[in-house]
Amino acid sequence: MKKTVIYPGSFDPLTNGHINIIKRAAKTFDEVIIAVAINSNKNSIMSVDERVNTIKSIFKNSKKIKIDKFSGLLVKYAKSKKVNTIIRGMRTVQDFEYELQMATSNNKLDQAIETVFMVADANYAHISSSLIKDIIKLGGSAKEFVHPKVESELKKILKKRK
Ligand code: COA
Repeated sequence: MKKTVIYPGSFDPLTNGHINIIKRAAKTFDEVIIAVAINSNKNSIMSVDERVNTIKSIFKNSKKIKIDKFSGLLVKYAKSKKVNTIIRGMRTVQDFEYELQMATSNNKLDQAIETVFMVADANYAHISSSLIKDIIKLGGSAKEFVHPKVESELKKILKKRK
């Protein structure tokens, strides 16, 4: 039976840390669905469609990796996709507390749902989407932290806003 995992997140923007988790997940599972959350609470820099399209262009040659967006509860989205496994990256002790809360809540909402954690590669453990947004907004280069397609998309967005 094909084993699919959902990798949910805001991905605003997708970082090299996320890419590292996605590539490793694709080695462990038959299929990875990157699920971009439509989250109106977060103060985002990229629209959901900009995020989805950029991620699609990065993984266009990876048959095992699919990109989608979702709104509402993650567990409901997972059920609609007939997927029971969620994967999240774990960078630090701070991540652990947040991730534990989310994984436990999701499991309480739907006991079929299991969350698995992949330890972030030490090279990427310091990266966060907020940090990248700050660097780009202040005119710095984020090329060490993001895929070139993400960096050029972010620069385009900021130029339009000026
Ligand atoms: N490498 C680098 N950075 C990473 C990382 C990794 N492996 N894993 C996480 N991060 C960073 C991100 O850059 C981001 O940084 P930021 O806080 O500066 O923005 C942060 O950690 C988390 O972002 P992301 O991975 O995109 O996920 P998220 O926490 O925004 O996603 C959802 C949360 C979407 C999974 C969650 O809100 C959700 O499920 N929402 C749906 C509604 C729902 O069901 N709610 C109930 C949940 S219990």
